[in-house]
Amino acid sequence: MKIFVYENREILGKEAAKFIASAIRKNPKLVLGLITGETPLECYKELVRMYQRGEVDFSQVKTFALDEYLELPLSHPYSCKSQLLETLLRYLNIPHKNMHFLDASSPNPASACQAYEEEIKRVGGIDLQLLGIGLNGHLGLNEPGSPFDSRTRIVELTETTKTYLARYFGERVPKKGMTMGLGTIMEAREILLMAHGQAKADIVAKALKGPVTTKVPASILQRHPACTVMLDKAAASRLP
Ligand code: GLP
Repeated sequence: MKIFVYENREILGKEAAKFIASAIRKNPKLVLGLITGETPLECYKELVRMYQRGEVDFSQVKTFALDEYLELPLSHPYSCKSQLLETLLRYLNIPHKNMHFLDASSPNPASACQAYEEEIKRVGGIDLQLLGIGLNGHLGLNEPGSPFDSRTRIVELTETTKTYLARYFGERVPKKGMTMGLGTIMEAREILLMAHGQAKADIVAKALKGPVTTKVPASILQRHPACTVMLDKAAASRLP
């Protein structure tokens, strides 16, 4: 793992955007796994600025959303799809057919998960997967206890995650989600994990330097051959 620590989340976001832009310049047909939440917001703003300045072209890039909430219309402002469109995708020149989302409104969400796996395979796999980390160490919605070989599937959210998500959903927090599995995530050729803020310091230290265990899903990243980690000073403050 290559770990980089930056002064604050703004600088982290800019460096992450540069990292992604450089991957796109090397491979204009990059297949990019996208995340939602607070973590990528600075990075996404910078990617939009870079695109507007003509520094990076997304016209051949394909994207796959990491996860989605169930029992929520996809048009809900805090569905992962809406968040990705509003914070990033609508500002870039990615053709709509190249954007992939987990279809939570499908009458058969389990087969939608399987179809997502097949679509990822069909495009040749994910080249670069972005990741954030949950307070309990989750990746996507792979909560503690998720098998390391899990695939895209429907999952129950833990109390920690539901409490965290109340900031977006109030009393109507989704109880379930769809997420790429840990096995799916680990097949990405390259991974960029980002975390900022003091609240993540403990879990970041456990995930990066503690034992590799399903109790801390993000600890599996220690086994990935090409994982870059970008932290701000606060999130890095408990690293040994
Ligand atoms: C959410 C998402 C994850 C995200 C994580 C961290 O539940 N499903 O994909 O990485 O929790 O969220 P945040 O970036 O808001 O801290």
